[in-house]
Amino acid sequence: MSKQNKNLIVALALAGVLCLTTSRGLCADSPLGKKPITVGFSQIGAESGWRTAETQSIRSEATKRGVNLKFSDAQQKQDNQIRALGAFIAQRVDAIILAPVVEGGWEPILKQARAAKIPVILVDRGVNVSDDSLYTTLIASDFVAEGKMAGVWLGKKLNGKGNVVELQGTPGAAPAIDRKKGFQESLKDFPDLKIIKSQTGEFTRAKGKEVMEAFLKAAQGGGTKIDAVYAHNDDMALGAIQAIEEAGLKPGSDLVVVSIDGIKPAFEAMVAGKLNCTVECNPLLGPAAFDAVEATLAGRPLPKKTVVKDQIFDQSMAKEVIGTRQY
Ligand code: AHR
Repeated sequence: MSKQNKNLIVALALAGVLCLTTSRGLCADSPLGKKPITVGFSQIGAESGWRTAETQSIRSEATKRGVNLKFSDAQQKQDNQIRALGAFIAQRVDAIILAPVVEGGWEPILKQARAAKIPVILVDRGVNVSDDSLYTTLIASDFVAEGKMAGVWLGKKLNGKGNVVELQGTPGAAPAIDRKKGFQESLKDFPDLKIIKSQTGEFTRAKGKEVMEAFLKAAQGGGTKIDAVYAHNDDMALGAIQAIEEAGLKPGSDLVVVSIDGIKPAFEAMVAGKLNCTVECNPLLGPAAFDAVEATLAGRPLPKKTVVKDQIFDQSMAKEVIGTRQY
C-alpha cells in the first residue's frame, strides 16, 4: 500500500473516531463530509387540511436537506405522542420536532429528552411547562391575534350586533384556548355581539357539521336565532356550511361564517359565496423548523419563540388570491 493511501486510511479512521466521540453538531461537519442527521417528528394527526399541509411541509423540507426523518402520527392522542417521543429518545435521534396536541402534561417526557441531550423544537402549538428550558424554541402563529382578527371582522360585518355560535378546536389545545380568548377580547368593543352557544368540533369537518346540526335544530325549534358562526378552523366551518345548507339556509348570507386557517377549500367556499372570511394560519413550517434544528445542533442560540405572520382574507379578495395559495 502506498504511503499516500496509508495516510488517507489513517485520516478517515481518525475522522470516524471523532464522529463517534464529539457532539452531534461537530459530527455533521467531520472531514468525512456531512453525516445525515436523524430527526423524530411527532405529529398530532391528520384532522384537517391545515395539518396535512404542515406534515407535507416538514416531510419535503427533510428530504430537501437530506435529513433522515422518523415520522409518527399520534391520531390526536397525547399518549401516542409521549410514546413516540420515548421511542425517539431510545433511538438517540439528533433532534425532535413536536407539534403538541394539548398544552399540558409534557414535563416528564421533555425532562427525559433534556437528560438525553436531545433538543426539542416545538412547531405550531405551545406547551404549558414550569421550566421553558425543557424545549429549545417554539415556531408558531399568534392564535390570540387570529381570534381577535376574526372577532373584529365579524363585529364590523354585523354592525356590532348579533348572535354567534362558536365551534371550538380540540379541548386543551393552544389554538382552541387562544382563539377563544382572542375572539372574546374583540367582543369588548361590540357589546351587542354575543356568543350564544359554544362547543368543540375537534377541528374536524365531520364533528363541525354534527355540532352545527344540533345548534340549528335548537334554533329552528324555537331557540335563539343564529346570525353567525365562528369556527376555530376552516374544516369545521366547511362542515358547518354543509349543515346550514342541509337545513335549507344559505351560508354566507342567511348566516355569516368566519373561520381560521386559510386553506384552499376555504378560498373556494369564499369564491362560491358560502364562507365570508378566513384568517390565515400558515402551516408551511418545515423550513423554519429545520433551520432551528440545524442552528441548535451547531450550538447557535435561538429565540424562545418565533411568531409566524398571518393575514386576513374575505370574500372581496378571494377570487384574486386563490390562485396564489400554496396549501
Ligand atoms: O394548531 C393549528 C390548528 O390545528 C389548525 O388551525 C387546525 O386546522 C389544526 O388542526
